Amino acid sequence: MQRRFLVTGGAGYVGSHLVAALAARGEHVVVLDNLRLGHRAAVPDGVDLVEADLADAPAVDAVLADGPWQAVFHFAARSLVGESMARPFEYLTENGSVGIRLVEACVRHGVARFVLSSTANVYGNPPVVPIPEDAPTATTSPYGESKLMIERALFWAARIHGLRYACLRYFNAAGADPAGRLGEDHTPETHLVPLAIDAALGRRPELVIFGDDYPTPDGTCIRDYVHVTDLAEAHLLALERLERGSITCNLGNGSGHSVREVIRTVEAVGGRPVPARLGARRPGDPAVLVAASDLIRRETGWTPRFAALTEIVRTAYAWREAHPDGYAS
Ligand code: UFG
Repeated sequence: MQRRFLVTGGAGYVGSHLVAALAARGEHVVVLDNLRLGHRAAVPDGVDLVEADLADAPAVDAVLADGPWQAVFHFAARSLVGESMARPFEYLTENGSVGIRLVEACVRHGVARFVLSSTANVYGNPPVVPIPEDAPTATTSPYGESKLMIERALFWAARIHGLRYACLRYFNAAGADPAGRLGEDHTPETHLVPLAIDAALGRRPELVIFGDDYPTPDGTCIRDYVHVTDLAEAHLLALERLERGSITCNLGNGSGHSVREVIRTVEAVGGRPVPARLGARRPGDPAVLVAASDLIRRETGWTPRFAALTEIVRTAYAWREAHPDGYAS
């Protein structure tokens, strides 16, 4: 019998790449998405789309009742750290409380496997770099807190009800489907890679570099960029790993790149300059965020295929050139 998977937020950036990977394996996928941040065009033919909000408990119940589900992948969330500082309670309720209710509903409907899209933001300003999974969680934002709320709910769902879960803490998701079908389309866009590409393509007047007085070699912040297709692959491997028990792990390449390095890479890949000017620091940005990614590699055999920053930028660039207005193009 064909296995069925429910993917919340499957019309969004990372979720859509997982949906494509599942569909390519011949799995039956149902996407639950309110399409507020997601895109109908990101859902491939043959994948069912249920357009509903996760806060709509009867709608969520109806979908879950239509099982059995091999697993639920939970991506649907707001994910802007800065916005969460301005609207903390929206994040704590719309991501956190709603996510906990989803976990509860999954338990009630007999879902046995759950994979959570979590974030490196749970660590806050890390005490050690690269950050291991046993570093204390000390998030500095309601966004990170909202993901921790769900991680904790999963811990208790496992302990009390036997649910198996994977919490996947992403570092900086970037890049686009190498086949060119899917890519990054956020409104507003706040992420470095697409903003630098848009500046190179003349779709934005300039990129503002948020500070160059950090304690890093060139003074700009260092991040661990990880390709969205590699993230999708890690979800599939984590799902298999659940047969041996729950897991919480980082998803990053384990190497960091500064903002200036990203700009230089965008310039090299596109052959066009990135107009950039120096601006103030963005509040809340840690200087360096790099993952210790040994756990996922050891436990699942995950080997990122697009680990090189050039590959990440190349696929993002190709998508943006072909889709200057994102999915509306
Ligand atoms: N940056 C700029 N200018 C910009 C945008 C970003 O200089 O216009 C810098 C930021 O200061 C940061 C780096 O580029 O140093 C990356 O910024 P992003 O906004 O692309 O990503 P963040 O590191 O802030 O956050 C991302 C996700 C979070 C997640 C985090 C985990 O958006 O959800 O990675 O590492 F929690």
